Amino acid sequence: MRIDYDPDAMDPGAFYKLLTAVVVPRPIAWVSTVSADGFLANLAPHSFFTVACTDPPIVQFTSVGRKDSLRNAEATGEFVVNFAPESLFEQINATGTDFPGDVGEFDAVGIEREPSVRVKPPRVAASPVALECVLHSTLRLGSSTVVFGRVVHAAVSEEVTVEGHPEIGRLKPLSRLGKNEWGLTSGVRELARIRYADWEAQG
Ligand SMILES: Cc1cc2nc3c(=O)[nH]c(=O)nc-3n(C[C@H](O)[C@H](O)[C@H](O)COP(=O)(O)O)c2cc1C
Repeated sequence: MRIDYDPDAMDPGAFYKLLTAVVVPRPIAWVSTVSADGFLANLAPHSFFTVACTDPPIVQFTSVGRKDSLRNAEATGEFVVNFAPESLFEQINATGTDFPGDVGEFDAVGIEREPSVRVKPPRVAASPVALECVLHSTLRLGSSTVVFGRVVHAAVSEEVTVEGHPEIGRLKPLSRLGKNEWGLTSGVRELARIRYADWEAQG
């Protein structure tokens, strides 16, 4: 037996709750931006986040409604995706607070920043990975706007690499689940993709 849901017959908020409970786990982009005048540094988690294109490298996050991160990215054409590790759990959550527009989350939450190499928004100093992005485009979809950013620089802390490659056991990413739940990364398994030629050969 299954329970059936018709989004058209449901309150959008209720369907949103269902969607975010079943599209799991979601990686978290901890997005830093600066205000149009360049003075205020903004930081907020976005779990509607993924890679949009590999060549050129483009990532995307979605602003549900028009939030400061979106406004700043549009106004300045730049943003940084900071990696969200387990060790920064509480700080990441605190930057999701609906601070007024004239409050910068770096200062309000007390998060140390460091300069980016290619863009104006600062990076989170304690985050092990920063993807510096220039705005590629935005796509308005109903209540939400998808923000595409071309990655122009990546900075990865040596501490999370093994032989020069980022290692999941060191990155320890947080993910977003349904409700107020967060996921930790445990029980990683490895399995190579099967080439069709090998599949055939196995009979
Ligand atoms: C783990 C987590 C994930 C979130 N993901 C999103 C998201 O994908 N899109 C969104 O619009 N808001 C998301 N939020 C809420 C925003 O972070 C929150 O509204 C924040 O205040 C926006 O800040 P800003 O106005 O400075 O951009 C998330 C919050 C948390 C804690």
